[in-house]
Amino acid sequence: MPHRVIVTHHIPEEGPHLLREHGFRVIQLDHFDTHRELLAKAKRADALLCLLTDRIDDAVLAMLPRLRILSNYAVGFDNVDVRSATRRGILVTNTPGVPSNTVAEHVIAMMLGLTTRLVEADAFTRAGKYHGWDPLLLLGTDVVHKTLGIMGLGNIGKLIALKARGLGMQVLYTDAAPVSRSVQKSLGVKPATMKQLLKKSDVVVTMVPLMPSTRHLIAEKELRMMKKNAFIINAARGPVIKEVALVHALQRGIIRGAALDVFEFEPRISSALRKLRNVILTPHTASASAETRANMSISAAQNVVDFFAGKKPAHTVNPQVFRTER
Ligand code: DGY
Repeated sequence: MPHRVIVTHHIPEEGPHLLREHGFRVIQLDHFDTHRELLAKAKRADALLCLLTDRIDDAVLAMLPRLRILSNYAVGFDNVDVRSATRRGILVTNTPGVPSNTVAEHVIAMMLGLTTRLVEADAFTRAGKYHGWDPLLLLGTDVVHKTLGIMGLGNIGKLIALKARGLGMQVLYTDAAPVSRSVQKSLGVKPATMKQLLKKSDVVVTMVPLMPSTRHLIAEKELRMMKKNAFIINAARGPVIKEVALVHALQRGIIRGAALDVFEFEPRISSALRKLRNVILTPHTASASAETRANMSISAAQNVVDFFAGKKPAHTVNPQVFRTER
């Protein structure tokens, strides 16, 4: 009997195709609104290929007795109860590295969008408000010689650093794990405490995974530490920044602007945030290049293929499960 893989939403076809080529029975779900709908279809699944929007908690896992691998179509895996999966002997995999460059490009685009006031300028021009060149019209700010502070120097953070260095910026970073001196040197980045980074940076980027310790990493106190003219960008997970505090800081001019690809209560976005002109908002599309989304599909499928071939998948979140399985 072929192994059954439930793919919870439509994803680029490359991954499902790879699975079929390897003899898997792929059950493609279209859309489901409730866990019950998912569970009704997934009961006999050997593998689940799911999205970051699928909340896979203990109750869900308890209802999937055959499940052996859960392949998350994302780098972040805060949607999965990894502890419960581990206890149940279910391997959890993800797709780190695959979207890094695309996300880094999006972050740089958001930074330059803020500093050049690109979105505001576009809206202004479309609204028919441009009546002639004006030396004082829509003044932005340069990034050259400015300081970028990256919180979380993982795969994406490193690529943001390299691109920012190319733009002539100084780069500070914080990270929970030590980064070797040679890596710091090759990237041209300097370590800082969180307080130093917030106080010195002209642009702050949060690129940390969402964990209990990073929830509301940026709240009232941290925003007040930032320069009045500074910008903040979040392309990690929404709850890393306390949204109500950010809105308040933006409304009161405590900081100059923000660009957000993720939101605390995603997909809900506070109307106060949507009204602000000093923000750029994108709908969690930082990794949305056609190439990257196709490669994520392949990577998520390959994790499943490798697992059932007895090979350790390239990206395991709880590798101890694989070791005890074999
Ligand atoms: C991820 O892979 O975790 C990203 O948020 C997808 O854009």
